[in-house]
Amino acid sequence: MFRQYDRGPWHARRLEKGKLALRICHALTVHAKIEQEIFYPAVSAVLDGEVDDLLGRANVEHSGIEALISKVEDTPADDPLFDPMIEVLAAYVARHVRAEEEQLFPRVRHSRLDLLGTGERLAARKMELSTARGGKQLFRQARKVMGRKKSLG
Ligand SMILES: [Fe+2]
Repeated sequence: MFRQYDRGPWHARRLEKGKLALRICHALTVHAKIEQEIFYPAVSAVLDGEVDDLLGRANVEHSGIEALISKVEDTPADDPLFDPMIEVLAAYVARHVRAEEEQLFPRVRHSRLDLLGTGERLAARKMELSTARGGKQLFRQARKVMGRKKSLG
């Protein structure tokens, strides 16, 4: 999605890029939530605290990502700082994903963790969060980021 954001011929159009940015933010929020609620506690329990330093760092990275997401959700897409915020967000996420893939996942792969069961719980919670209606809060974010005059469809 970040690549799509960079490439879009509509790059300068507030409505389109605001929509995509909010989709990115929502996907990242869901990612952080399901890992923190389900994956990290399961990993910590199975590895008996062995990777708690990695999980601590991952949690701090999630907090940084969430703080930036809040700013994006509070900024009009035609603000001069909007694109730089998305670029920095992409860099944070790339760094976080690299750390998970290179350091955390190899430890998990060779552990007693029930990968299938945990994967199913993650997928179920992800589905629940992705389809949950955000109601007024989502509408307020959309109005702020994309402006209020145009249709938000
Ligand atoms: Fe993560």
